[in-house]
Amino acid sequence: MMPRRAGNPSRRFGDSKSKTSPVLSIGLIVVGGLFLIGYLYRGSGGHGSRIDSVSKVEGDYLCSGEVQRAIPTLQKTYGDSMHKVLHVGPDTCYVVSKLKREDETEAWGVEPYDIEDVDSSCKSLIRRGSVRVADVKFPLPYRPKSFSLVIVSDTLDYLSPRYLNKTLPDLVRVSSDGLVIFTGIPTNQKAKVADVSKFGRAAKMRSSSWWVKFFLQNNLEENEAVNKKFEEASTKSSYVPRCQIFHLKSLH
Ligand SMILES: *[C@@H]1O[C@H](CO)[C@@H](O)[C@H](O)[C@H]1NC(C)=O
Repeated sequence: MMPRRAGNPSRRFGDSKSKTSPVLSIGLIVVGGLFLIGYLYRGSGGHGSRIDSVSKVEGDYLCSGEVQRAIPTLQKTYGDSMHKVLHVGPDTCYVVSKLKREDETEAWGVEPYDIEDVDSSCKSLIRRGSVRVADVKFPLPYRPKSFSLVIVSDTLDYLSPRYLNKTLPDLVRVSSDGLVIFTGIPTNQKAKVADVSKFGRAAKMRSSSWWVKFFLQNNLEENEAVNKKFEEASTKSSYVPRCQIFHLKSLH
């Protein structure tokens, strides 16, 4: 086979069947190139992925977007206790960036899921250690009361009670002035199907009475004074939350 090809190249090129094959190859290269360009553009962190992440904030991870909306109200409620904040939840880079823009607020983030296409500002937050990717089913790598306030969004909706039993007290452990929980509202069925493939488990939106019972079982106490303050601040600024928000006390 080899000798025949090498031995008679002119015959091959003269053959009509062979003539079409370079054209076909070029066509395939062009199509392949277009796919490659499309693929690279998608993951480039440019305009396309920015739109992607905005829709994530608005869609899949409703409550991480909600944390961003709630920052002014949280400021009014917690005041000085907002000086050292840990946010735990998907899209934490956006929440951390937004918190860092506040005066006298230092912020860190824990991203509970693998991040695929992150933009350059998120990459730099990760590089500087402001944001880390960590599985929240395991104890958080922080000492007790490392943060004045801990805010968790969406994440708890993906945990079964077995893991919640460990994760929730651990979030309380690393806070000194409180834990704020943003969790989905049971009637909000948005984007659950897409989430299953990514997180291996569908979000389960629990009712407010389910959560209250769960807090009691785990000896976690809601902060009634803060609840009241937050409600007043919300009313004043016409802020209507799209997630359930709970305020828990830190341990003493
Ligand atoms: C979670 O903890 C509570 C209180 O300690 C206990 O009653 C409950 O059975 C635990 N649930 C699971 C699924 O481990």
